[in-house]
Amino acid sequence: MKPFPHAFAATLDTPAPVVDLDIVERNIARLQAACERAGVGNRPHMKTHKARDIARLQLQAGAIGLTCQKLGEAEAMADAGATDLLISYNVLGAAKHARLRALARRVKLAVCCDNSTVADGYAQAMAGAADVLSVFVECDTGRHRCGVPSPQAAADLARHVADLPGLRFDGVLLYPPDGDLVASIDFLAELRKACAGHGLIVRTVCSGGTPNWGRIGSLGENEYRAGTYVYNDRQMVRLGAASLEDCALFVYATVVSHPEPDRVMIDAGSKTLTSDLMGFGDHGLLVDYPEARLHKLAEEHGFVDVSACAHAPGIGEVVRVLPNHACPVSNLFDEVLTMRGDRGAGRMSITARGRVA
Ligand SMILES: Cc1ncc(COP(=O)(O)O)c(C=O)c1O
Repeated sequence: MKPFPHAFAATLDTPAPVVDLDIVERNIARLQAACERAGVGNRPHMKTHKARDIARLQLQAGAIGLTCQKLGEAEAMADAGATDLLISYNVLGAAKHARLRALARRVKLAVCCDNSTVADGYAQAMAGAADVLSVFVECDTGRHRCGVPSPQAAADLARHVADLPGLRFDGVLLYPPDGDLVASIDFLAELRKACAGHGLIVRTVCSGGTPNWGRIGSLGENEYRAGTYVYNDRQMVRLGAASLEDCALFVYATVVSHPEPDRVMIDAGSKTLTSDLMGFGDHGLLVDYPEARLHKLAEEHGFVDVSACAHAPGIGEVVRVLPNHACPVSNLFDEVLTMRGDRGAGRMSITARGRVA
């Protein structure tokens, strides 16, 4: 980790999210190289940073396009000049269908579905349009979130999509559970057979996730969506997908009170760090005081147990908090501060902040 406190910390108005651009660029280059070594197209997920400037860095480094979780994020990226977008989420409802159709006129757009109601909606959205919408079938290979749970049912849905006017079945999207790829490999083998039985070719297999980035290509996928890798966070360090040196986003906070010998209060609470525990039991890591525990948050207050610290941070001191989960932190700020070396580098707008619909 960078020596701390550095010159920039002293100038900050806290609480403040700070992004180290040198680390971001290194993370982008590393993931891009991993994709290229495996012959896999890199389609980074922008939900982690939601920022036009970082999307540009990813595209300049060689990404083939971007993944967005929500339609609003995709619109924001199109406004920022992106031309090739995948929305990895079922898009439903008349209001969204009108937006989808308009977006499909502006960019090369792919969407996904895991049921026929969503697919039928895409066909209605595209009725009479000149463009054809590319559709991926989302498969559940063990994460148990969205996704068709069996290869045969996924192939049946693919056939349904291929038969609908205005749509093209282009492949499958999976988001394997962290660490376990065996079920995904078996699922894909069965799926290809079942699709062949329906006279369909699976042109694109799009997999994703930072925890599995070291094994990009091992499913035979030809596209990869990683999101968190760009910043990394405490969870990625715990999973071994990153080291502390690879973490680019920290929340800088000031110790505002030391009301009891074993407790200090910082000016970052749930409105800064989110309440995402990610199974840690506390709310982020004070990297320069690893024995401290940020055990409780109020909206604007962080409660830090310093009983295990040989030396506690003093009132007025700025501390760095590594978020448990970087992605929702981005959604809390209109802009983040950037740094290079030990200096401030400017401000970066979080272009798609709040674009959750
Ligand atoms: C559909 C989908 N693809 C890819 C990702 C990226 O995963 P990670 O942030 O682990 O890189 C996510 C993360 O939530 C996701 O939901």
